[in-house]
Amino acid sequence: MTENSRSADHAGDSQAGSASASVPEGTNARRVFVKTYGCQMNVYDSERMADALAPEGYETTQAVEDADLIILNTCHIREKAAEKIYSELGRLRKLKDARAEAGKATMIGVAGCVAQAEGQEISRRAPVVDLVFGPQTYHRLPELLARAGTGEAVVETEFEIEEKFRHLAKPAAARDGKRALTAFLTVQEGCDKFCTFCVVPYTRGAEVSRSVEQIVGEAERLAARGVREVTLLGQNVNAWHGEGADGRTWGLGELLRRLAEIEGLDRLRYTTSHPRDMDAELIEAHRDLPQLMPYLHLPVQSGSDRILKAMNRKHTREAYFRLIDRIREARPDMALSGDFIVGFPGETDADFRDTMDLVERVGYASAFSFKYSPRPGTPGAKLPDQVPDDVMTARLHELQDLITRQQKAFNASLVGSVCEVLFEKPGRNPGQVAGRSPFLQPVQVEAPESLIGEIATVEITGTGSNSLFARLATGHNVKVATSASA
Ligand code: SAH
Ligand code: SF4
Ligand code: F3S
Repeated sequence: MTENSRSADHAGDSQAGSASASVPEGTNARRVFVKTYGCQMNVYDSERMADALAPEGYETTQAVEDADLIILNTCHIREKAAEKIYSELGRLRKLKDARAEAGKATMIGVAGCVAQAEGQEISRRAPVVDLVFGPQTYHRLPELLARAGTGEAVVETEFEIEEKFRHLAKPAAARDGKRALTAFLTVQEGCDKFCTFCVVPYTRGAEVSRSVEQIVGEAERLAARGVREVTLLGQNVNAWHGEGADGRTWGLGELLRRLAEIEGLDRLRYTTSHPRDMDAELIEAHRDLPQLMPYLHLPVQSGSDRILKAMNRKHTREAYFRLIDRIREARPDMALSGDFIVGFPGETDADFRDTMDLVERVGYASAFSFKYSPRPGTPGAKLPDQVPDDVMTARLHELQDLITRQQKAFNASLVGSVCEVLFEKPGRNPGQVAGRSPFLQPVQVEAPESLIGEIATVEITGTGSNSLFARLATGHNVKVATSASA
């Protein structure tokens, strides 16, 4: 991905690996291949699709040519992200033909935000598609599949978020036989904010929050399976407000306090937050909860008041600075990350200077930046003064240079310090184990593989292009998993 400031898992990219689930014994197995594009919520949804298909006899495969069912879980956030889907469908048409010659049927489904936004149009442009289904319909996948593949494409783009939450398939016990140490958990879906550049309110629908009971239940199940780090997901995760068993409406700060009580859940994160929904309770949770990791993705999009207004972000740059001060007061080691759009319609050079100035003043540990992409149906697409592409490219490069310098400086500032790492998998080189720092950086640690699954204190010894290097700290503390089946 060239328009992004770092090639990590973020909106618009396709995600490595696919969703997985295993099939009950004795079932005649069919294979499903799910390819996930876009944000973490799509990653979570792909897992739930795999879970919903397992009782139907589908097991997941990583090899697309072996799949009887291929699902693209798509993203519509920028034009490039959406266009990728049509080129992928072109390739899949050839694969489907080749399999047909060998006497094997292949069903092709398009899910996610492109499905929601374009519906029927997809099967018109790509007749190879048998099934088009939006993000709120995954619980009905078995029924939709039963109707598909008999001629005309089945198209299902109803909005039924509450239904989806009620019927979400339970997370699979293990992925490909491996215990998962980290997991996503959707707590809120949809968006009522209507930023003028953004398609999400149209593709994901209105904001809906899951109840405390549903979330705590799912978190407890994950912890019991050995998950040690949970990232709560929502398009506006900090706007989450769910009903508690006490009948009151809880906010995210209170929910995090409750989740921090679950034995075995040593690390909590949440994404993505909107600056307007960072309330005092949530900031206090950062002050009080050691489980809540000191890394916050808090997109601001622009540093210009004029552009923030035109984007309908409903806050000023000063309000953002004040908020950052309060957050850093509560949690001095907080690392910040953000999203920026350059070239929103009407953005002048002076507006862009304000964005550069904001980035200088805040100092990010990492950030994502994008060229504005006009999205059909959004107010921004109809605005005059669209910024020429060469101007956007120049601004993007300048911003990304600054962000890269800040990221390097942040990483370098950690050398010599100690922090905890959750060890997740064998490292890049023999004798190394890979994990994540509290600030979400990948860390390669000289340590025995027996530490996989554990959290231990390390001393940061150096930095690479995207990761840190470390060794176990002298007298290092290993926080052994406390949950039941770990
Ligand atoms: N809910 C989050 C953003 C979700 S979309 C928030 O409010 O911050 C992820 C990121 O994609 C956004 O933060 C924005 O930077 C980028 N993005 C969204 N729409 C875009 C568009 N039309 N063109 C370019 N970037 C866009
Ligand atoms: Fe899009 Fe704005 Fe909603 Fe974020 S808050 S999902 S940018 S409309
Ligand atoms: Fe993309 Fe939809 Fe997520 S548009 S960023 S997959 S909510």
